[in-house]
Amino acid sequence: MQTIIAPSLLAADAGCWRDEIILAAGEGIRHLHLDIMDGHFVPNLTFGPAQVGMLRAYSAMEFDAHLMVSAPETLIPAFAKAGVDSLTVHQEACPHLHRILDMIREQGMKPGVALNPSTPVELLAPMLPFLDRVLVMTVNPGYGGQKAILEMLKKVEWLKNEKYRTKLEYQIQVDGGIDQQNVRQFLSAGAENLVIGSALYQSGMTSKNIRAFQDLLSAYEATIRPM
Ligand code: DX5
Ligand code: ZN
Repeated sequence: MQTIIAPSLLAADAGCWRDEIILAAGEGIRHLHLDIMDGHFVPNLTFGPAQVGMLRAYSAMEFDAHLMVSAPETLIPAFAKAGVDSLTVHQEACPHLHRILDMIREQGMKPGVALNPSTPVELLAPMLPFLDRVLVMTVNPGYGGQKAILEMLKKVEWLKNEKYRTKLEYQIQVDGGIDQQNVRQFLSAGAENLVIGSALYQSGMTSKNIRAFQDLLSAYEATIRPM
């Protein structure tokens, strides 16, 4: 599987979201990461299903919504209606996780689970057969522009080994502080989907940054390709 770059729009100038989506599509990007924060599960507030529905009109990309909200089950139908393809909830916000994953699938979306840095990855073992994606938070959720916590590489490795052992097909996503310096470490640990915010949008040179990451990915993939 080719590694996915999923831009986190949160880091881009909100007045340019439409243009940034179109520009990213022109650079071959096929996934968009949407950070939904409720001011309760995390201390920050962003946007909701209405705005996601508006963005949907500009793109056929896979929309991947990362719900950093308490009681995410109340929002599942609204995000399905907004045209989200993949919905990720936080393990820490879901005492009845299995039921919520079922609800997401029933609404026609792919279910994912995110783990805060302090949550052990092993506790997901019973849920892995029900998941399309595991999101390893490499920062504490709530803000873009933080430094990645490299200890989280161990969780990525555990998920990679477990995936190999069980032959399950969940995708391993990493989110927070991914940059051109550390991306190779995440790739070799087993990350298959990279959420990237600041390192794409901070300098205002999105195309150049996307291409730099694409080149790093191609160089990495060339080193692991069998002869
Ligand atoms: C953090 C969000 C991330 C983050 C990514 O709560 O889930 O998606 O904003 O942005 P960077 O790459 O700036 O950490
Ligand atoms: Zn995110």
